[in-house]
Amino acid sequence: MAGTFHYGLHMTKTVYVGMSADLVHPGHLNIIKKASALGEVIVGLLTDEAISSYKRMPFMTFDQRREVIKNIKGVSRVVPQSTLDYAPNLEALKPDYVVHGDDWREGVQKETRQRVIETLSQWGGELVEVPYTQGISSTQLNAALKELGTTPEVRLKSLRRMLKVKPIIRFLDLHSGLTGLIIENLFVATPEGRREFDGMWASSLTDSTAKGKPDIEAVDVSARMITLNEVLEVTTKPIIYDGDTGGRTEHFVFTVKTLERLGVSAVIIEDKTGLKKNSLLGNEVEQTQDSIDNFCHKIQIGKKAQATNDFMIIARVESLTLSKGMDDAMERAKAYLSAGADGIMIHSREKTPDEVFEFCQRYNKLENRKPLVAAPTSYNQVAEKELASHGVNIVIYANHLLRAAYPAMVNAAKSILEHQRLMETDSHLMSIKEILELIPGTK
Ligand code: SPV
Ligand code: MG
Repeated sequence: MAGTFHYGLHMTKTVYVGMSADLVHPGHLNIIKKASALGEVIVGLLTDEAISSYKRMPFMTFDQRREVIKNIKGVSRVVPQSTLDYAPNLEALKPDYVVHGDDWREGVQKETRQRVIETLSQWGGELVEVPYTQGISSTQLNAALKELGTTPEVRLKSLRRMLKVKPIIRFLDLHSGLTGLIIENLFVATPEGRREFDGMWASSLTDSTAKGKPDIEAVDVSARMITLNEVLEVTTKPIIYDGDTGGRTEHFVFTVKTLERLGVSAVIIEDKTGLKKNSLLGNEVEQTQDSIDNFCHKIQIGKKAQATNDFMIIARVESLTLSKGMDDAMERAKAYLSAGADGIMIHSREKTPDEVFEFCQRYNKLENRKPLVAAPTSYNQVAEKELASHGVNIVIYANHLLRAAYPAMVNAAKSILEHQRLMETDSHLMSIKEILELIPGTK
């Protein structure tokens, strides 16, 4: 406690504490208390961007988190820390100490810690580590919050917040409560942190297929809402709803209001008219693209119908899937944005991303450019980083959970028929114990 001893004899020492402070608990207070015993505490509050670079987006906004932290006893100043790396702030502030919990010696933050030690050594600064407070952790609090659930308002807003802080966000198809749970809870641990899906795509293809019906808007909005409600009940992540053509403009108004009330973040409507067929069928079937004027009118009426500023209507351009050419795609994208669309989805059924990237290049130059969505179903070799580098903001993996499930079910059924007993298929299946424990709250 050299700092305490010298207090009063020398200039006050400065102490830097980096934190996210989303769910503040006694562990945080303990760190601040230890830090303030060493000198004047400057909290480097991680921005939403910095946090999202290695774990999920914070529940509270930066301003809300700053409000909490600056009022904690012992904190004299709060500065934003816009990268996970402390070095830029440390070099600007040259603190005598950095105080941190000792839990970052392993895991994602290991290298960040090393950089802190090296940076401090330039001016003889020191890293002080406080033993991790047992019995409470953000991870536990996160789990408890998930169990509490969310509200429609919070969920609705979360898509726009994510778009602001992440270079690209990933969505996966839902068609049942169970698929919603997979998207909600599955993650992989990587050297860059926890990787998970950012949200759910309420696909018309997979919802219709799961109900044994064709993807032609025969499963109407009421039926689609049944699936959606199942998912809403057991998840908290944002949802983008596949609105097909949006139906008649007069009907689309009600769809917008319904989705918004439920806390869905966005609807995507495609610029087709008449009997809709799946886009990946292209010109193999008869499909009619809507006129620019009609579709713009639908967007405008939809935008007028929404009650908040947060709900998004994204216009999906079908010019490439219908072989109408790049110029037509661009002309439509521009017109839809001018009509008030909050984003554009560009769809393609080519085996390579070339035409999508050509579109991106031209789209990125638009003055009123808004978020861009792509579904790389057919150009499946493309990775998220590459999409992001071309300016794609949302990637939708549109049908992959359903396509994974169906062959597995058929194989199980076939095996029973072939062997006239269960043993051969059982080893490929989830065990009874596992399925009984799959859903939280079973026991
Ligand atoms: C869906 O998932 O329902 C879509 C995307 O609309 S696609 O099937 O590629 O048209
Ligand atoms: Mg669809």
